[in-house]
Amino acid sequence: SNLDQLYRQVIMDHYKNPRNKGQLGEDTVTINMNNPTCGDRIQLHLKVEDGKIADAKFDGEGCSISLASASMMTQSVKGLSVEDAIKFAHIFYDMMLGKDYDDTTFDLGDIEALQGVSKFPARIKCATLAWKAMEKGVGKEEEI
Ligand code: FES
Ligand code: FES
Repeated sequence: SNLDQLYRQVIMDHYKNPRNKGQLGEDTVTINMNNPTCGDRIQLHLKVEDGKIADAKFDGEGCSISLASASMMTQSVKGLSVEDAIKFAHIFYDMMLGKDYDDTTFDLGDIEALQGVSKFPARIKCATLAWKAMEKGVGKEEEI
């Protein structure tokens, strides 16, 4: 459908022109996370200040879904409180699991382009990789 095509374009745009790719110079938490099913890994750098995610960047190798998701995740959580970032991650996990998800609390923006991933169970771990890294970085981690 046209919507699927649009979503594919959004994913490819984030893959080819990743937002927030690179290192963070200052005082940051770095989390290495790998997808055990394929061995791809990402490195997430977070600057957490006063209970907020002041900055986020990532690096790494992976498929288009994993890198697009990392790009979108960094865009989405920058400026959020740690608590909201975790809430956002849980909304994203609901989306990935094909459950009804709350699309009202946060501006989902480009993230909605990933909703089709729920139909491809093997790719769910690709999409959740960066979000799990973020949760680990702020001290929470969930199995999914
Ligand atoms: Fe890594 Fe498919 S390319 S599992
Ligand atoms: Fe490795 Fe997607 S195939 S992260």
